[in-house]
Amino acid sequence: MTEPMLAAAARRRPHSADAVMIDSNENPLGPCQAAREAMAGMIPQGGRYCDNLTDDLVSTFAQNEGLNPEWVHSTVGSTPPLSLAVLAFTSAQRSYVTADPGFETGMMMAAVTGARVVKVPLTKTYAHDVKAMLAAAPDAGVFYICNPNNPTGTLTSHSDIEYLVANKPKDSIVLVDEAYIHFSEAPSTLDLLKAGKDVIVLRTFSKVYGMAGIRCGFIVARPDLTEKVMARGGWNFMPITACAAATASLKDPQLVPERRRINATIRQKTFEWLDRNGYSYIPSEANFFLLDTKRPGKEVRDAMAKENVMIGRVWPLMPNHVRVTVGTQEDMERFQAAFQKVMKS
Ligand SMILES: Cc1ncc(COP(=O)(O)O)c(C=O)c1O
Repeated sequence: MTEPMLAAAARRRPHSADAVMIDSNENPLGPCQAAREAMAGMIPQGGRYCDNLTDDLVSTFAQNEGLNPEWVHSTVGSTPPLSLAVLAFTSAQRSYVTADPGFETGMMMAAVTGARVVKVPLTKTYAHDVKAMLAAAPDAGVFYICNPNNPTGTLTSHSDIEYLVANKPKDSIVLVDEAYIHFSEAPSTLDLLKAGKDVIVLRTFSKVYGMAGIRCGFIVARPDLTEKVMARGGWNFMPITACAAATASLKDPQLVPERRRINATIRQKTFEWLDRNGYSYIPSEANFFLLDTKRPGKEVRDAMAKENVMIGRVWPLMPNHVRVTVGTQEDMERFQAAFQKVMKS
């Protein structure tokens, strides 16, 4: 189960082709122009595995981030390494520790290994409560940190992640999911990993790069950790279209800042509209936010779906909140009209 599957399960009803789809944290901009052209150029080579394209992708990323290419491995999105890391490092004896509310994929995989799932509420500022996470699980196998966190879109400071890494039980890992890091100005955790710590960082091209349907991501870690993760069934070839599109995207230094700015502008305008109309929300650093519906969020989500605007999901700990993805400005205007109607009815 991953984001689109969870979103579809929550959606429950068929939607029309012109529905506003702001329920699974996709990027409406899609791949950048250079990525589109690179993919089109790959079509004639589709009969070959072309592993040189994976090498190009890995070396481009490694060079951009000052990493040893041996520490970078590309995957079809970040769902596979996330799931496999949980399989590799949790068990009936080694628990899986996560924030509440948090992204669910790792918890679901913990059920496969029989690991205890330790859900630790976020702090008052919606950061991971690293001290409470450490205290709650001396038996931890994996500490999952999603930064910014899905579904709150809020950040955990680098110093808190450093504290967690320094104080975690031996042989556990800190799994840092940076799916949404580019939308924020927050520093990455790659520096801790470069220092040789027991840290795995996950990246994806599904969010800022607009390539959710193309499938590309990275696991970045010490080779001994990556080996353990990928040994759970992860080794495979990459789609050549994904490699070409991702490499082209990484070669454009303007792409991330430009898209971060676009997302932040639309998000800010949405927040201003919510403020003006007396609605509350959790301020977010990502391409989604939790909206306070003051009544069961599921009811509001279903009423919005009738207006052809798909929002969601709802997390059990916060039943009166619904997650909303930041779409295009037009998407958000349709969201506003529908939300006003639903809340006034
Ligand atoms: C926090 C988080 N991690 C990982 C993923 C996995 O995305 P993908 O497999 O498309 O890279 C998602 C998808 O929405 C996500 O929200």
